[in-house]
Amino acid sequence: MILITGATGKIGSRLTKKLLDAGEKVRAVSRDEEKLQGFIEQGADPAVGDLLDSNFCQSAFEGCDRAFLLVQGNPTNGKHYNEELQIGANYAESMKAAGLKHALFISSLGAEKGTGSPIIDVKLEIEKGLKETGIPVTVIRPGNFMENMYNFMETISSAGFFTYPMPGNVRMPHVSVDDIAEISFKALKRDPEDWEIIDMPGIEYSFFDFAMEISENLNRMIKYMRVSDDQFREVFTGFGISDKFCDDYLAMFRYFEKGEFDYNPQSMPAEFNYSPKTLEEFIPELVKSIK
Ligand SMILES: NC(=O)c1ccc[n+]([C@@H]2O[C@H](COP(=O)([O-])OP(=O)(O)OC[C@H]3O[C@@H](n4cnc5c(N)ncnc54)[C@H](OP(=O)(O)O)[C@@H]3O)[C@@H](O)[C@H]2O)c1
Repeated sequence: MILITGATGKIGSRLTKKLLDAGEKVRAVSRDEEKLQGFIEQGADPAVGDLLDSNFCQSAFEGCDRAFLLVQGNPTNGKHYNEELQIGANYAESMKAAGLKHALFISSLGAEKGTGSPIIDVKLEIEKGLKETGIPVTVIRPGNFMENMYNFMETISSAGFFTYPMPGNVRMPHVSVDDIAEISFKALKRDPEDWEIIDMPGIEYSFFDFAMEISENLNRMIKYMRVSDDQFREVFTGFGISDKFCDDYLAMFRYFEKGEFDYNPQSMPAEFNYSPKTLEEFIPELVKSIK
């Protein structure tokens, strides 16, 4: 049985579908049983609860031999950093209690760099806790998700622009969650004997590259515009995001805008035949949802 945390999220939902289609036994985690309904109908075992609760976490792992793990703190309450650490600690305890054979953890590119953003740096702390279990863990460190662009569908569609609080000309690693789900699927099929780290930067693109490709596909001008930190904070807090999360998110963009990315593409096992999705492949999918 494979435990899938974040089964209703971007990577986890794609991975759960792949595993069920391949006939694997899957236990899917969510705090909301309704969101798991489709997977339950396909034969998944639901585990409904909050991974911050160590008893729930332990019960979710029981009877599983492999697990797909990610951590997501709540961006609205100012406690996201400690929540991610807590979930990571619950994973480590539960992995040992269940006698897990192999876990796969979604970390973040740059986790080991000391980026100055707790959103990225927390992942290294969690990696360390998982490593201490002595159980083989595959750590995937992905770049920025191309699919984050779906957050801008409405402004692109209605106003013809999208924004971030960083310059548009800085190229940064962008990876598709389709690719992360596919590599996770392949990685969970094998039982490594040791700890392994796989960098998954994808391909470096700037937000100007995204704007150009979207414009070409829509046949109209779509602009990337940098917003100031204050404008960003005003919009985000308007959506209920905490000031602390805004601070940490802005610190992440200060790291990104340095453009000093450093990763090891050779860490991807050759047997996975990984060929990163390109912007030219991704944008036609994206624009289907733009009016
Ligand atoms: N976005 C990026 O560019 C990027 C880049 C590198 C790394 N990452 C990392 O990738 C991960 C996010 O992956 P994703 O985009 O696939 O996820 P996502 O779409 O943001 O979904 C989050 C998932 O986490 C689950 N979740 C959140 N809090 C939970 C809790 N307390 N208990 C149980 N489940 C909980 C949610 O389940 P329910 O709501 O159904 O309970 C949902 O399935 C994060 O760790 C992030 O740091 C992201």
